[in-house]
Amino acid sequence: MLSSIRNVSYILLRKANARNLQTTYCALSDSLFVHRDTKDNNPDVHFEFTPENLKRAEAIMAIYPEGHKRAAVIPLLDLAQRQHGWLPITAMHKVAEILDMPRMRVYEVATFYTMFNRNPTGKYHVQVCTTTPCWLRGSDDIMNCIKKKLNIKPGEISADGLFSLSEVECLGACVNAPMIQVNDDYFEDLTVKDTEEILEDLKNDRVPKAGPRSGRFASEPSGGLTSLKGEPPGPGFGVRSDL
Ligand code: FES
Repeated sequence: MLSSIRNVSYILLRKANARNLQTTYCALSDSLFVHRDTKDNNPDVHFEFTPENLKRAEAIMAIYPEGHKRAAVIPLLDLAQRQHGWLPITAMHKVAEILDMPRMRVYEVATFYTMFNRNPTGKYHVQVCTTTPCWLRGSDDIMNCIKKKLNIKPGEISADGLFSLSEVECLGACVNAPMIQVNDDYFEDLTVKDTEEILEDLKNDRVPKAGPRSGRFASEPSGGLTSLKGEPPGPGFGVRSDL
């Protein structure tokens, strides 16, 4: 019995080797989902909300009905991240304390949503979308251009501390693919040249223009309008004359 199981396993193994069962590469996130204490991020790092942000936190919590203030966990984590630049574990503890919820519940939220940066980032956090629509439109070229220009890989910070780079899933701007996000701004319809210009502007403390780089407005058709071009027909249009 044992030997026949071994034989079947051997045959399956041979077949698996003959034809790869998985042919796409396994893309893993550039940050761990678990916390590991580091010099910059450990339970001794000091974090307190500033008096202004405490007021903001109270205003946010007041939106939610009595008994449901835990629903404010995402906006409060976002507030903490905006204050600190990224989200140390002590900021999560502070949010848990304010909302009177177990720390583990806050960890669950902060590790699930990739917009929470649980490691230090550069002044400009560059996120490159490489999901299918952006990939089909050349996100590999955009990523290679950024890696070359900044001399860093995803998950790293440039030597001058100015840039950090992440590879991310769809950022919801597929109509304007390929695109990148830098801090809160989207840069869309990118070419390699556009990307170089954006990085150059940021390096020199200039503010690059956000939005589509192709000249079109928002996500309007890139080949010009195809519908709603004339006067809309009036009431009764297309209705039988005998009715
Ligand atoms: S695939 Fe890149 S924004 Fe959606």
